[in-house]
Amino acid sequence: MKALKYLLASTFVTVFFIVGSSHNLTFAVDAKPPGGSHDGVDVPQPIEFPHDIHVEINKINCMYCHTYARRSKVAGIPPTSKCMGCHKIIATDKPRIQKLTEYWTKGESPNWKKVHDVPDFVHFTHERHIKRFVFDQDYPVEDVKEVCAFCHGQVKNMTVAHKVKPLTMGWCVSCHEANGGPGDCWKCHK
Ligand code: HEC
Ligand code: HEC
Ligand code: HEC
Ligand code: HEC
Ligand code: HEC
Repeated sequence: MKALKYLLASTFVTVFFIVGSSHNLTFAVDAKPPGGSHDGVDVPQPIEFPHDIHVEINKINCMYCHTYARRSKVAGIPPTSKCMGCHKIIATDKPRIQKLTEYWTKGESPNWKKVHDVPDFVHFTHERHIKRFVFDQDYPVEDVKEVCAFCHGQVKNMTVAHKVKPLTMGWCVSCHEANGGPGDCWKCHK
């Protein structure tokens, strides 16, 4: 069932279908989320990408765009072809969409700048965390943003993505201690 929901959420048509559904159940994630905050700046991007318009207003799932989060180390930034699936027809009169369309016509992608970046000697993987906090406990995939928020804050409200959690060693370790994650140095350091 949860796999099916994910598949449904991954198709263009059902993205809009979900907008229309009025389901409003709230589940609590079985987790003790870490505290702490970080005052990150808005990273200048080639096109200011509004997460709020997509996630909060149009109810598009985080993993519709960041498709690899559930199965690999990285979450992935969507290719321009995915944007154009909608923006060939949506908001074509807006300057930012015209800029996006220019990249697309030239066969290029905007050079998105990194917002979150742990040093290369740190081993981090999205997959294990998404599995543990979403799939292992049948947490509804449409609410995955609440799990992303443990480490990225409320991206759904951001007009430009910025870093709001520390992502330091002490911070990672405190969450591992609270939730039964590994404590061995070599798990996080290759
Ligand atoms: C599932 C459909 C969908 C996808 C995929 C999508 N968008 Fe959008 N996007 C929208 C909708 C709907 C709006 C709101 C349009 C409006 O307000 O008229 C929007 C608005 C925007 C805006 C604001 C435009 C403005 O100035 O008001 C930008 C910028 C944008 N999208 C960029 C992107 C980029 C970049 C991607 C790919 C990473 C993308 N979008 C993928 C549906 C989508
Ligand atoms: C319509 C596609 C789309 C959706 C839906 C979407 N994102 Fe993004 N996301 C992007 C794009 C494009 C970027 C790169 C631009 C940027 O960093 O602002 C990005 C960047 C990010 C970044 C920063 C990446 C870095 O470099 O560190 C995070 C974190 C992120 N998204 C999390 C989320 C979360 C959490 C959700 C759900 C609440 C979500 N995204 C929903 C397209 C999307
Ligand atoms: C347990 C903490 C944690 C959770 C939960 C988490 N992330 Fe991340 N995320 C990170 C860290 C740490 C990085 C930086 C990784 C690096 O620099 O190698 C990152 C990087 C990213 C990036 C940019 C690089 C990449 O991997 O593509 C995106 C996009 C992103 N996360 C999206 C998401 C989304 C969407 C979710 C929820 C489905 C999510 N993250 C859940 C910790 C987390
Ligand atoms: C929300 C709490 C939380 C945060 C924040 C968090 N982790 Fe975890 N992490 C866990 C839990 C719980 C597990 C164990 C998952 C399992 O075994 O199912 C885990 C597992 C791991 C693993 C083990 C993967 C494997 O293959 O055994 C690594 C590596 C890891 N985390 C690195 C990090 C790093 C680096 C950070 C900080 C950037 C971080 N984690 C932040 C809760 C967290
Ligand atoms: C849960 C994941 C995690 C575990 C477990 C962990 N570390 Fe780290 N470590 C990190 C992260 C993330 C960073 C980079 C961010 C920072 O510097 O705080 C880091 C940074 C470091 C650094 C560089 C600090 C600096 O100032 O540049 C050292 C040295 C280090 N760790 C040693 C250790 C040792 C020794 C252990 C075991 C006792 C350990 N780590 C366990 C996640 C972890």
